[in-house]
Amino acid sequence: MAATAAKPGCAWITGASSGLGQALAQQMAADGWRVAVSARNSDQLRQLADAAQNLDGAIHAFPLDITDEAAVRATVHAIERDFGPIDQAVLNAGNHQPVLARQFASAPFRELTDINLMGTVHCLDALLPVMIPRKAGRIAIVASLAGYRGLPTSAAYGMTKAGLINMAEALKPELDLLGLRLQLVNPGFVRTPLTDKNPFPMPFLMPVEQAAAAFYRGLQSQRFEIVFPWRFAFLMKLLRLMPAPLAFAVTRRLVPRDT
Ligand SMILES: NC(=O)c1ccc[n+]([C@@H]2O[C@H](COP(=O)([O-])OP(=O)(O)OC[C@H]3O[C@@H](n4cnc5c(N)ncnc54)[C@H](OP(=O)(O)O)[C@@H]3O)[C@@H](O)[C@H]2O)c1
Repeated sequence: MAATAAKPGCAWITGASSGLGQALAQQMAADGWRVAVSARNSDQLRQLADAAQNLDGAIHAFPLDITDEAAVRATVHAIERDFGPIDQAVLNAGNHQPVLARQFASAPFRELTDINLMGTVHCLDALLPVMIPRKAGRIAIVASLAGYRGLPTSAAYGMTKAGLINMAEALKPELDLLGLRLQLVNPGFVRTPLTDKNPFPMPFLMPVEQAAAAFYRGLQSQRFEIVFPWRFAFLMKLLRLMPAPLAFAVTRRLVPRDT
């Protein structure tokens, strides 16, 4: 049996110094959660924690680079020592770097694999040994709709996000049987520092507060996959189902021509 619906308790959010993670931390703290927030930028985390002092819940900063496996384990230990068992983990930290075939290099692949994929794996490696014996705990992994199908300029980013989707699907049935809830979060375009760098028009771009509200609603639901905005998710699901020649006819139109 999977865990029941989340009530405010102790949450851990990675990648909470900006964007989606930060907005989600604010909304969860406003709803009564004690939220441990992690990212590399400790100043931004502390500002977030200070600004939450009048909320029903609280925000506490735990600066962390998720590429450091030992530091991830120590952080989970410190959060649980200071605030009790983590009821809800949100593995949201991630980065993006565009890749063009004509400027191909291994560096962005290595960097995004280390952060998006192995960073998330490090978090699971720290969380599962403490959650499984308790038969309780909820984990949300943030991937992306870009993980559904290869998209121009997203060779490195999409590779990591497709990997996260597959990993979550592989772990979910067993975690169900162990009493843990695993959820997969696949956002479309959300206005954050990550997408502010994109030079192309982003269909159905969502304000971050609205996206965080959809994210939080999803965490409180029984759904495995949380997607937003739904119209872009619908289009990406169609693209995923298309036969390859048809899908390439669509994605070829997304190749940047001018660099
Ligand atoms: N915005 C979108 O349209 C969109 C769409 C689909 C999926 N997503 C996913 O949503 C998640 C949040 O992205 P966002 O849009 O909110 O971008 P963002 O504002 O750039 O946030 C990314 C967060 O990850 C943290 N981070 C990066 N590398 C880290 C590391 N090595 N260790 C710990 N923290 C690290 C960053 O903080 P520091 O730099 O301080 O470490 C930051 O807090 C990402 O996984 C992203 O791929 C976003």
